[in-house]
Amino acid sequence: MRVLVNGAGDERSAEGTELDLDALDLRSPARVPADRPWVMANMVTSLDGAYALEQRSAGLSSDADRQLFHRLRGAADAILVAAGTARTERYRRPSTAPELLERRRSQGMSPHPRLVLVSASLRLPADLPLLEGDDLPTPLVLHPASSDTSVLPPGIEPRTVGDEQLDLRAALSGLRADGVEVLLCEGGPHLLGQLHHLDLIDELFLTISAHLVGGPRVGLLGGIEETARPYDLYRLLRAEQMLLATYRRQR
Ligand SMILES: NC(=O)c1ccc[n+]([C@@H]2O[C@H](COP(=O)([O-])OP(=O)(O)OC[C@H]3O[C@@H](n4cnc5c(N)ncnc54)[C@H](OP(=O)(O)O)[C@@H]3O)[C@@H](O)[C@H]2O)c1
Repeated sequence: MRVLVNGAGDERSAEGTELDLDALDLRSPARVPADRPWVMANMVTSLDGAYALEQRSAGLSSDADRQLFHRLRGAADAILVAAGTARTERYRRPSTAPELLERRRSQGMSPHPRLVLVSASLRLPADLPLLEGDDLPTPLVLHPASSDTSVLPPGIEPRTVGDEQLDLRAALSGLRADGVEVLLCEGGPHLLGQLHHLDLIDELFLTISAHLVGGPRVGLLGGIEETARPYDLYRLLRAEQMLLATYRRQR
């Protein structure tokens, strides 16, 4: 592991064999806005901007990226994911690794983050793993009032936010009212694009995987209307052939 940049104003270069996940400054009450959670997004991309290989992100990932994935989950009160990704990636209820449980407890957090989906169709296959796991928090699905709730399988709690369309801003303020201070969005690109459009991404963790991929699944924001927003490069780590970058929104 090579640290290229670590935190604002702390530029250094250091060699080490381990990814020092303890050094990541992931939770800070001072950063949390009053009306919504602090929103972190975590994505992996190829060198040419592809977000999936054979429709899934696993082929772009690595050990270091997976370690970061689990540590980010460990710092989050809830994990936001779009129904498309939950279906494609066969999402489960998040379960904190035993070594991270004490850290959560000492920070006054619940043992496991809650999974929060967004969907309009509410069509989730009955064999989707996230529908099971009674010892873990029941997932929540955010949907507009126009959704047909009769198709929703058991094992997930519905919440209406918005009429014809899901109101993402109101959804986030509802999560804040639930006590969610740090929300981790795991995509996919169509959801991330909407959050970007509303300027709701505070921190982006971007793993750059040393592959050229091509194909149609390119662009982390799902091809939305162009809106440029400046971010600061906050941290840059190198783990073998991968770059793990953290960007914070300039406010
Ligand atoms: N590289 C990475 O880090 C990464 C991360 C995540 C995902 N991925 C990949 O990305 C692909 C999936 O991404 P995607 O962009 O095609 O789809 P997506 O954003 O994961 O899911 C789209 C679906 O989410 C629901 N949705 C999104 N926004 C909504 C809104 N405002 N209101 C209501 N429902 C909303 C809808 O579900 P309904 O159809 O149920 O209405 C919609 O069809 C997969 O191949 C996955 O492997 C890659």
